[in-house]
Amino acid sequence: MSELVFVKLGGSLITDKAKPLCARREVIASCAGAIAQALSGGTQLLLGHGSGSFGHPLAARYSTRRGVRSPSEWFGFAAVAHAARLLNVLVIGALLEQGVPAFPIPASALAIARGGELRSLDCRPLQEAWEAGLLPVTYGDVAFDDEWGGTIISTDQLFAFLAPRLRPHRIVLATDTDGVFEADPHRFPGAKRYQEIRAGECQAVLRQIGAASGPDVTGGMADKVRRMCELVRSMPGLRVQILSGHVPHVLAAAIMGRATEAGTTIVA
Ligand code: IPE
Repeated sequence: MSELVFVKLGGSLITDKAKPLCARREVIASCAGAIAQALSGGTQLLLGHGSGSFGHPLAARYSTRRGVRSPSEWFGFAAVAHAARLLNVLVIGALLEQGVPAFPIPASALAIARGGELRSLDCRPLQEAWEAGLLPVTYGDVAFDDEWGGTIISTDQLFAFLAPRLRPHRIVLATDTDGVFEADPHRFPGAKRYQEIRAGECQAVLRQIGAASGPDVTGGMADKVRRMCELVRSMPGLRVQILSGHVPHVLAAAIMGRATEAGTTIVA
């Protein structure tokens, strides 16, 4: 049996977060190349991607993350879903260009949330996609919510929900920075990188790291670190690696489990 790996291409990596609806097409293409390389090496993948400057600005304008009630908020819900899907179309297109049979799995169609957390998601379409030899591609999306009407579900939430059910060998989160830093390395170039975060030290790390740049309704790096620490605590064999997606051969090596020094690793 080949190893199962969850891979996320972060919104800060594949879009320009400072410019609404601005995709970094050349980055998407190079990441698609890395994914094609890892797949040809026999790794089984679930790919997810963030929304960056597609979903986040609209989600912030309609405060979709905190619930959806009025007709104008439901309009926002539909608009956020559309923006998230537009980016997904670009990612899928880049993968198809590489000869990868990428297939969209939108959380908005399969997931139900409660109070902003994922409550149920039908895994069957994922299993069917793998059996058919397709690469399932999910993404941060809107979801109906039993308590709040609607909300936003991030890729990190999707991975945290799916990991105990599908038992991946590792999770690779490709971002715009080479891992987790004590401060935003774009603003503070001397900021120190964490090479490894032990889930038990999570609180101290969370106190240290900076807030996201640009609108981020799903909590940015801090929320990612918190969720991944919780996850590895409940699945002690799991390794989560957060690294830059800008160097395709390093990304491919990380997906295949061969770039263990790159970025930041979160372990139990
Ligand atoms: C956010 O998803 C989804 C929307 C705002 C629609 P993510 O949390 O996975 O995306 P990024 O990586 O922060 O952009």
